[in-house]
Amino acid sequence: MILAANFKSNLTRAKTEEYIKKVQKFCEENTISDEVMVFPPASALRQSSLHVSVGAQNAFCVENGAYTGELALEQLKEFDINTILIGHSERRHVLGESQELIAEKFAYYKEQGFRIVYCIGEPLEVRENGNRALLDYLDAQYKGIDLSYANLVIAYEPVWAIGTGLTPTLDDVELIHGSIREDTKAPILYGGSVKADSARLFLALDNVDGVLVGSGALNPDDFCSMIADAKKLKGE
Ligand code: PGA
Repeated sequence: MILAANFKSNLTRAKTEEYIKKVQKFCEENTISDEVMVFPPASALRQSSLHVSVGAQNAFCVENGAYTGELALEQLKEFDINTILIGHSERRHVLGESQELIAEKFAYYKEQGFRIVYCIGEPLEVRENGNRALLDYLDAQYKGIDLSYANLVIAYEPVWAIGTGLTPTLDDVELIHGSIREDTKAPILYGGSVKADSARLFLALDNVDGVLVGSGALNPDDFCSMIADAKKLKGE
């Protein structure tokens, strides 16, 4: 399983250090073999620890250059970062990233061999038009994306579930993940209002290979309890 925490624009460098230390210790003490990823804000990027891989929430698709406000490959390499989130709904809908730019980023970081967590998900008005409309919307988010890339992870995150406390039903998650599974062999994470007390419900579903968690993972104890639940589900 994959347990991923997206801090977004939360926590400082000092708090991220503390967080990762705590999660690392927990994973060591509990001999965790699942993949644990943390995406801190850019100012808190650092080397991965043994159990906790640190990824970038975003970076531009160049080695370096004149792209004010953006990180690029050179800055990620300084910390040996080789994991990146691409296509997150906040990048698409708040920061206005087009599918074209997202596909360019994907191609660039694929070329670099990065582990890419590629996010897809539909807004509420699409959801309200039924399953066919929803799946067509997700299909459009595959444009320019190599779904057979060996180092790919898909995160299905309905836009209306992110940061709202709302989630699809477990049946809906299973249905949508099942249909994404027809398109790719990559692990598929569910994201959107996952909390410490609900993560295990999603993790237990068919074709859910992990969770991508925002606000519910800002407290390292909550994140550790999700990691523990994933281990329990495997019967370890
Ligand atoms: P949330 O965010 O858990 O706060 O809903 C999830 C995400 O955006 O990855």
